Amino acid sequence: MPKNNKKNSQKKVTRYTHEQIKEPRTPETGHTQLLPADEQIVALPMDNGWSKAITVGKLPEKDDRPVVVDMDPAADPVLFWAGKRNKREIPILPLQRNEIVSESRIAQIIERAQKAAAEKSGEARQGHLFADLEKTLREGDKSRRVEFYTHDEGWKNKLICGDSLHVIESLLHYENLRGKAQMIYLDPPYGIDYNSNFQKLIGTGRNDDDDSDRADDVLTIKAFRDTWSLGVHSYLSYLRERLYLCRDLLSESGGVFLQISEANLHLCRSLMDEVFGYSNFAAQILFRKSGGLTAATLNRVGDYLVWYFKDAEQGRSAYRQLFRRKVPGDEGATQYRYVLLPDGTIRELSDDELRRASEDELVAHDNVTSQGNPVYEFHFRGRVFKGPFKPPPERLQALADMGRLCVVGNTLRYVRRLSDFPWFEVNQLWEDTGVSGFGRPKVYAVQTSDLVIERCISMTTRPGDLVLDPTIGSGTTALAAERLGRRWIGIDSSRVAINTARWELLRTLYSHYRLRNGRPSGDFEYQTSPRIRMSGLIDGKEPERVELFDRPVPDLSAIRVCGPFEVMTLGRYSVEDWKGYVISEAARSYAEMPKLQNYIAVICRLYRKDAAVQGAGGLVHAIAESEKDKIAISVGPLSGRVTAKQINDAVQDALALGILEVHVLGWAFEANVGEIKSQLESRGRVKIHLVMIRPDTLAEGLKATQPEMLFSPLALPDVDVKLANGKGKPKEAVVTLKGVGVFDRKQRTTEYYAADSGYVAAWYLDEDYDGDCFVDCQMFFDFKKAPNLKATLKAEVDPGEFKLQLTSQSFPVRGYKRIAVKVVDVYGNESTVVKHVS
Ligand SMILES: C[S@@+](CC[C@H](N)C(=O)[O-])C[C@H]1O[C@@H](n2cnc3c(N)ncnc32)[C@H](O)[C@@H]1O
Repeated sequence: MPKNNKKNSQKKVTRYTHEQIKEPRTPETGHTQLLPADEQIVALPMDNGWSKAITVGKLPEKDDRPVVVDMDPAADPVLFWAGKRNKREIPILPLQRNEIVSESRIAQIIERAQKAAAEKSGEARQGHLFADLEKTLREGDKSRRVEFYTHDEGWKNKLICGDSLHVIESLLHYENLRGKAQMIYLDPPYGIDYNSNFQKLIGTGRNDDDDSDRADDVLTIKAFRDTWSLGVHSYLSYLRERLYLCRDLLSESGGVFLQISEANLHLCRSLMDEVFGYSNFAAQILFRKSGGLTAATLNRVGDYLVWYFKDAEQGRSAYRQLFRRKVPGDEGATQYRYVLLPDGTIRELSDDELRRASEDELVAHDNVTSQGNPVYEFHFRGRVFKGPFKPPPERLQALADMGRLCVVGNTLRYVRRLSDFPWFEVNQLWEDTGVSGFGRPKVYAVQTSDLVIERCISMTTRPGDLVLDPTIGSGTTALAAERLGRRWIGIDSSRVAINTARWELLRTLYSHYRLRNGRPSGDFEYQTSPRIRMSGLIDGKEPERVELFDRPVPDLSAIRVCGPFEVMTLGRYSVEDWKGYVISEAARSYAEMPKLQNYIAVICRLYRKDAAVQGAGGLVHAIAESEKDKIAISVGPLSGRVTAKQINDAVQDALALGILEVHVLGWAFEANVGEIKSQLESRGRVKIHLVMIRPDTLAEGLKATQPEMLFSPLALPDVDVKLANGKGKPKEAVVTLKGVGVFDRKQRTTEYYAADSGYVAAWYLDEDYDGDCFVDCQMFFDFKKAPNLKATLKAEVDPGEFKLQLTSQSFPVRGYKRIAVKVVDVYGNESTVVKHVS
């Protein structure tokens, strides 16, 4: 344990570190040095030998379709589907850090929260990170320390927006994480029609939107899209590629859990047999969900976890058995139906009595004899029993003296008490994971129960180990890992998901667990339970103490907040994906174009079917017709951000053509694009739309036909900065959020709404923006939209108190003389604007 400075415990922020981690290639800021050209594309091998084990031939007679005519019986059977290949070339794209929630920032904010909580007057204020923390400190024991777990230099937890395929490749090649993950939890789309099952609004837990005047956001509306070009065939290809990559990430003793419904369970198991090998199968778990599905036959009450080790032998040796509390009459305690009577016999209880009985009085009975032992006579309660008793006579007498023998019929039996070890081993049926398994209310339409993931983590990893989730959704795995002191990486292709996860991570208060040697990697102290066994009593030994690995011992003198993490996206995401990509109806003509032209044509036509492509010569790449007028379309580079210069040049080119509406499409935008947009628009002639291209727009297998699924607006927030000049003091600034742009899907335009009109879910301020990495200094949430606020604070809440605060605290203007404001709207879209404050 780190030493606590008693005199100044309010201000001191201690933290724990994880072991030294190998340096990744991706730098903290700026652009990543790319891999050497010959390493930028890898062939993803997806073959456990099956391709060599099959014999391909032709059907007899006229039918000349190739078919598998035989298979080597020495190989394991495998599943086939349309498009199954044994390898595929994929590009390796670097990651970009968008934001660092750094250690020192968290430490600063905690100190601020502590100071504010120590003030005599005043209410807990929103307006900085950990408003919950301030409130908790204010209302609770003020001497409680605030801790967070961190990792040594070179390691930071990560939330990464991007397609899991490319992100994992990047983690393997740029971040050196091959063989480093101890556990992977994969909860992909289930491969069935989930059209109605997606998350529209961030933080509300609702996937319906009764407020119909609010425009549906194009990004979020299909955030959970699951439409695949070849149906289940594409789905199997999608999953198999990712499973092979997950295997590469796993350490030798690691394992992967795949969450799946029964619709595709059978296919997924076959897939996992292929990827991991049947002998590495660990278990198949059925867990209860919070809501069931009505079916024509038996209703569905749960989903499955299919668990495979990378290497079964090593995986089993790293496995930690968990236990659940025995409940009289229930699973694990069904034999404990008796009470011991004063005459040494036992009586079976009725169901009613059983429900009311206490743990201490319930007993079961067991054999006290065993073949092969010497037979002797034993006197008990006036009767003589003869048998090959397990203990010698004097120890059998000791058992009798301890009240451990009873008579059942004509037999002498051993008395087992429920309280001897009131726990039973967690097995493959998890019935306790329904509604009560959620540590927090639902914020995401398809959120997994916390208990399910916590259990997987506790069974297979130790504190400090790396847990990875390629489909993080609302962040359940990251939260569980943070809660349990594990390192984590969460990936999702949806920005709604990444923002929801970020939001959940930062505002949660975690228990602080006692560490064995001051570092998570040195493990926690766990609650223990004595286990009394007949063999121990016979030998006169002290009962063994069993560690309960999912019950670390909390240190009640401290509370814990989230440790530092970084938010990343795939940098040159789209670079290679578009290669050879064509729109079917014009396939030939596009394929024949030079590369750049092909790229531009494809994107323009995906955006507007009617776009007249102009080619790559100028910066107006296509022209389309709106109801009123013409629109100029300019497409940003595949490998970088749309710059202010591109916008300026596109506008000049459009004006030269007499076009007054310009749509600039990009995979990423420089943070200062807002400044140039307003400068150009302020001249009164031209209207500019900045449009994000959804990262997985060109991913193979997706039905990329509807523009509203692929593009969303970059709506820049409207902010005001006021400066005050303290005499002889540094300049102070105050930022006010005035408005936010929200995309109207039907009109395909962005309307600005006042910041207090209910569209802002959260906003963040970087007080000293370095032009590259956004760092949270102040955070503001609309807590009205957080149904779990009451639970988090464990208090009655006056909603007025948590109204979204629109003005920041004042702060000194520092070195870069630039601030950045990031706004996340209720649909999960985020946008950043930069302002100079000199
Ligand atoms: C069932 S949800 C996961 C929910 C999560 N277990 C939770 O508790 O919130 C599946 C997630 O996979 C994401 N997803 C779908 N395809 C993806 C891909 N190719 N790469 C990364 N994420 C993807 C979706 O955006 C969605 O958030």
